[in-house]
Parts: sequence; C-alpha cells; structure tokens
Amino acid sequence: MVKVTVCGAAGGIGQPLSLLLKQSPLVDHLSLYDIVNTPGVAADLSHINTKSKVTGHVGADQLEEAIKDSDIVVIPAGVPRKPGMTRDDLFKINAGIVRDLATAAAKFAPKAFMCIISNPVNSTVPIVAEVFKKHNVYDPRRIFGVTTLDIVRASRFVSEVKGKDPKDVNVTVVGGHSGNTIVPILSQLGESFTQEELDALTHRIQFGGDEVVKAKDGAGSATLSMAFAGARFALNVLEAAVKGTSVTECTYIDLAAASPEAVQSVKEATGDDSLTYFSLPVELGPDGVKSTLPIGAISDYEKKLFAAAGAELKGNIAKGASFQ
Ligand code: NAD
Ligand code: LMR
Repeated sequence: MVKVTVCGAAGGIGQPLSLLLKQSPLVDHLSLYDIVNTPGVAADLSHINTKSKVTGHVGADQLEEAIKDSDIVVIPAGVPRKPGMTRDDLFKINAGIVRDLATAAAKFAPKAFMCIISNPVNSTVPIVAEVFKKHNVYDPRRIFGVTTLDIVRASRFVSEVKGKDPKDVNVTVVGGHSGNTIVPILSQLGESFTQEELDALTHRIQFGGDEVVKAKDGAGSATLSMAFAGARFALNVLEAAVKGTSVTECTYIDLAAASPEAVQSVKEATGDDSLTYFSLPVELGPDGVKSTLPIGAISDYEKKLFAAAGAELKGNIAKGASFQ
C-alpha cells in the first residue's frame, strides 16, 4: 500500500500535481490536505478510473489522518511570489507553514520521503530537517528540496537554442533554488555555445521563475510546469523505492547524506567548506538517497557562478536552520 500525501493540495501547484499523481499506478492512496477546498478537489479526482483511492482532508484538525503512515509527503503549501518579490521574501509566511506540516510528518509519518516545493526551498529544507532532528527521527536520505523545475527549464531552454528534442538534452543543475544559487553546468553538455548564448542561457535558467511571475502579473508563480516537475520527482522517488529502478535526479539535500567525494566537490567548486546543503545529482534508491555524484569538471565561467551561489546559499541555510 503506497500512500502519498500532498499538503497544499487545493493550490495552484497542488491541484495539477495531484492530478498527475492520480495517474500513477504506483499510488494506492492519494491523500489531499489543505486548509481549504480539499473535499471538492478530492471528490473530483476520485472519479478518475485509476487504482488509487483519493481522500480529502481540511484544516489542522484533519492533518494527522491526512498524513498518517504516508510513504511520501509532497509539500507545495504556502504563498507564491508577486512581481518585485524574492523567494526569500516568502520566508516570513512559509517558514511557519512548512514547520507545522513537517512536525505532523515527523510525528505521524516519520519514515516518509519528504519532497519540499514551498519556497524559499534553500531555507525550507533545513527547517524540515531541524524538525525531524527535534523529534529524533531524522534521516537526511529522506528529505529533498525539489529543484526539478530548474532541470526541466534548462532542458527546454537549451533545446530551443540548439534545435534539439528536449528529451535528448539533460542539463545538470546544482546549488540551490533561487536566482544566483541555481548553477547550470552547461560545459558538461558537450555542446559549444557562444559567450552570448552562454550568458543568456545561464541567466534564463537562473531567473526562469521571474518570467512566469512577471507574465502572471500578480496572480502567482509557476504552477503547471511545477506540477509537471514535482510529479516527475515524486514518482521517481517512488519508482526507486517501490520498484528498485535506478533513477538519478538533481535535488537539494543535507550534505550529511552525500558521499565524501561529492562533499569535497562542493567545497572545491564554491571555495566554501561550510555549506551544509546543496543540490547535487542523486541516485535514488529504496531509502531515498542511495549515492551522490560529485559535481565533476567545471569551466572558469561556472567557477564564478559557484562562488556566487555558495555565498548566497550560506545565509539561506542558516536562516532556515535557526528558525524555530
Ligand atoms: P497557491 O497559493 O496557489 O497554493 C498554495 C496552497 O497552500 C493554497 O491552496 C493554500 O490554501 C495552501 N496552504 C496555505 N497554508 C497551508 C497550510 N498551513 N497547510 C496546508 N496548506 C496550506 O500557491 P502555489 O502557486 O501552489 O505555490 C505554492 C508554493 O510553491 C509557493 O511557496 C511557491 O513559491 C512554491 N513554488 C516552488 C517551486 C519550486 O521549484 N520548488 C516552483 C513553483 C512554486
Ligand atoms: C519557480 O522557480 O518558478 C518557483 O520557485 C516560483 C518562483 O517564485 O519563481
């Protein structure tokens, strides 16, 4: 019996994400939690003729039953950006929301794989980790910051420039999930780019989220592409855990779960030996993180991106880790 809980399931990401998860034969029970509207979303999705049972749960009183014994908890709960805001501006509201959801997970589903979508991801993942530590149920292999949208965007944007099918373009994107902390390693693609292409692509991958925020003009940020990316990530975690399929995804993790080689590669690339969280290519397995790949060869151009990413990430991590 595989139970997946979506927290924030009635939201802009939550609804299409739940629809995509409803299509998976790997899921037996899809549990939808939000502070509003989940009975309607659950009733609607429950008519789809795939095998999973769908239940809707509303408000803090129903959080325990929603989350209890989940195998995966996906969290896209909280407020999105409006034009002019940074992801860090969301911390004030989203930190408390994520902490409370993580507390319920630590109590009622301590073995769940936690997939954190709520921004600022660079800080919300350390918040979840600290809650699990406080409840003595922390396993760094099971907590992930979902950065898959950066990988999806990078593939799409590069394929547009190179006239390729995006399925043949797999860009490694590491670091964190906000502006300068997002580091695409285009030099590893085996493609040649002009300096102008490199600058434009790097900027577009780092600031792709802003394009959507601007286009939505006050009505939120990426939801549909995020649902696609979030479902891909969550289902890959499940594939690896349930079916033993070997899948590698870049994801933001506590470096306590990373190999010494991968940790060393973060130190060398950023020039900073104090970073405790970083997104890396992760091989997923039955317990979450199975192994981590080092960053690999990088260009001088990317070396500068890594230095800028490390400097910003450090503050984001400290802010999340010290939040009570
Ligand atoms: P939204 O406002 O459309 O939906 C958020 C949902 O969360 C709402 O339904 C709301 O009722 C619910 N919610 C609020 N407080 C809650 C609580 N305490 N418990 C459960 N649910 C609660 O927002 P959205 O567009 O779906 O974005 C959600 C979050 O995802 C934002 O923080 C956004 O920045 C982030 N995001 C992350 C990525 C990424 O790549 N990781 C991409 C896009 C958006
Ligand atoms: C994104 O990258 O689209 C998300 O992090 C949402 C945002 O605020 O840009």
